Amino acid sequence: MSDLAAVAGMAPRDFPFADLSLAGRRMGFEAQGITLEHLDDAGFAAVEEMLLTHSVIVFRNQALSPEAQVRFSERFGPLEVSLYRQFTNESFPPLLVISNVKKDGKPIGAAHVGKRWHTDFSFMELCGYATILYGIEVPPVGADTAFADMYAAYDALDDATKREIDGMQVLHSYRLRYKDGGLSAAQLDRCPDVVHPLVRTHPKTGRKALFLGCVESAFAQGMSLEDGNAFMRRMIAFATQDRFVYSHKWRVGDVLVWDNAAVMHTATPFDEAKYNRTLHRTSTIGGRPF
Ligand code: SIN
Repeated sequence: MSDLAAVAGMAPRDFPFADLSLAGRRMGFEAQGITLEHLDDAGFAAVEEMLLTHSVIVFRNQALSPEAQVRFSERFGPLEVSLYRQFTNESFPPLLVISNVKKDGKPIGAAHVGKRWHTDFSFMELCGYATILYGIEVPPVGADTAFADMYAAYDALDDATKREIDGMQVLHSYRLRYKDGGLSAAQLDRCPDVVHPLVRTHPKTGRKALFLGCVESAFAQGMSLEDGNAFMRRMIAFATQDRFVYSHKWRVGDVLVWDNAAVMHTATPFDEAKYNRTLHRTSTIGGRPF
């Protein structure tokens, strides 16, 4: 076990492990004693171990320039660039500004992203692995980021349902989601329809997890589009019950890192007329889910 893991109070364990339900795992784990800007290789290995164990980790009081955030993020793998290129950092395009703030009447960031339960880049052939979200300005009430544990949700299914869904495939379609507009042809060209398994095996931990995508773009295969979407809505409603959810209350300087192969997430509402909210997001590409 590295020193940093000891600081964070983790139990030692080897990878791959199939016993993540072990006592001590806590989604929404607060790591202490770590400055992300100055992380050496051993420090990064400890951070990734925490991520794989706890699926969502929180680092308080960080100060990350766009460059430092990109450098930290790319240690998890290649970076994805958002479909909303107009809100990405000019010098560091993988960094997306999420914000409801306007300057001279113009939005400085994407105000609408992430307001539904979803998994980052589930609509791509190669889906998201780690997402890093850094709080620059956050409201005092509301505006949490909520996470649902897809390992726990899978484990909680009865055996008959597990048998029914193991092997089931899901169409993830931005073409259908945005059939009435909202994305340009060039944006849609970046994400042709793709089919992924409904139950995936985490490539690093070996554990099974639900892989559901987003209510608006997910359609279980083997039935009509309407029934397939209704099926996915029921699955998402099941998997996002309070018993599977950690809701993060933001402080300025927080950095959240989550494992998209293990959780879904959503931004929660706040009074947008009263409060500003600005975050910097970077996301890494994992593989094709299996
Ligand atoms: C996201 O889904 O990427 C952003 C979540 C948030 O704004 O809380």
